[in-house]
Amino acid sequence: MEIKLNKKQTRAFDLLNDKKTTTVFYGGSVASGKSWLGCSWLIYSCLTYPGTKYVMGRAVLKTLKETTLQTFLKVAHSMDLKQDKHFTLTSAQDLINPNCIVFSNGSVILLKDLAQVPSDPDYNSLGSLEITGGWIDECAEVPRKAADILMTRMRHKLSENGLIPKLFISSNPTKSWLYYDLWLPYKAGQLSDDKAFIQALPGDNEFIDPAYLAQLHKLEGIDRQRLLLGNWDYSTSEDALISYEAIENIFKASHLPEGDGYISCDVARFGKDRTVICLWSGFRAKIFSYQKQSLEETADQIRHLMNKYNVPPSRVIIDSDGLGAGPVDSLNAVGFVNNGRPQNDENYKNAKSQVYYQLAEKINKFELFIDADVSIQQRIREELEQVRQADMDKDVKKAIISKDKVKEVLGRSPDYSDALAMRMYFDFIPEAWAQIIF
Ligand SMILES: Nc1ncnc2c1ncn2[C@@H]1O[C@H](COP(=O)(O)OP(=O)(O)O)[C@@H](O)[C@H]1O
Ligand SMILES: [Mg+2]
Repeated sequence: MEIKLNKKQTRAFDLLNDKKTTTVFYGGSVASGKSWLGCSWLIYSCLTYPGTKYVMGRAVLKTLKETTLQTFLKVAHSMDLKQDKHFTLTSAQDLINPNCIVFSNGSVILLKDLAQVPSDPDYNSLGSLEITGGWIDECAEVPRKAADILMTRMRHKLSENGLIPKLFISSNPTKSWLYYDLWLPYKAGQLSDDKAFIQALPGDNEFIDPAYLAQLHKLEGIDRQRLLLGNWDYSTSEDALISYEAIENIFKASHLPEGDGYISCDVARFGKDRTVICLWSGFRAKIFSYQKQSLEETADQIRHLMNKYNVPPSRVIIDSDGLGAGPVDSLNAVGFVNNGRPQNDENYKNAKSQVYYQLAEKINKFELFIDADVSIQQRIREELEQVRQADMDKDVKKAIISKDKVKEVLGRSPDYSDALAMRMYFDFIPEAWAQIIF
């Protein structure tokens, strides 16, 4: 079997076959040979180790078939492998191996869509899989959870072939979980020994069509930074509502004055996300967060903070969209409806956009301080970076990008920023002030 790879691809290929690295992360630009490498590795592994099983995954199966699978067919062709002789493609209706590439030696590549769906948020559908290894193409489109779960499924024919679990991740630069989990540690020289990152650019791929490369050189702005220059630290300032500098300042601004007490709380939905409670003194916030806590416990905790810090119910705000309605009632607190009407300003799409815009302004003016431990700080940072303007190019009401989009990037719900943003309600609601004064 002859496999032709460029230098960067060869380095990654070696890591994909070593006995130490379990996560190989390759990328940094478009057309750097990511998909070609992934297909080459899977074909090599399937042919070398008969009867092994791999996942070739992408957010959406249809896209996988239209793009990555097409690259697979080209790579197979370049290796003189013939469809229906050396391998077959099965349909979704195939009873034994639906949506698979089945090799004549019994090895199988399962084509999987890995986007998180409401009907299976925990990826139970992957729970029964036993695989040898996996590859997620354009992994930024897939939540971290999918990658984590896939990793736990790797045990099929490993020891008998002297293999270790291998996850191959390929992606263009994005501000996704890959940025925080892999790119930042890589940049700081702190990537753990079982992980490796190979940064590849179009220029590293000698096989690229020169006409296509010339097209890439015409890219401008963020696309040029990401797709041509492979810059993970590209600025999203065009649509981000809060600057990096301002986000960093939040955790340093301990000099900000104390003030009136408020409590804002985002209640977990379906027991999956976190319940986040922010205790405020003016615009200084202390953050409490809980997983898997009952509504009664949440209400008790808020009641405790109200008593201890003398916060009246009229200064307690809880999202009342989901399960929060219960605590709102029992505490007589203010209920926040995300999709409710904006207050005294019809320029916003809804109440949620309004409080987020106000929060962004407050943070950008360096007027907000958050007291939280380091791991929570990191989550808050990630969430605040995703406070972005929706429909930038359209002349419509001010809105932030949807929660679904944020979840897609973060791989989780933005519970901290939701709780923080609600605090702003009290800043522009005259009625609320009136309630507090009288
Ligand atoms: N090892 C290789 N041998 C031959 N052609 C390659 C090789 N690697 C990449 N290419 C060519 O470069 C193009 C871009 O590679 P691809 O893997 O699709 O990039 P990416 O997935 O990073 O966007 C492919 O269409 C293919 O023609
Ligand atoms: Mg590709």
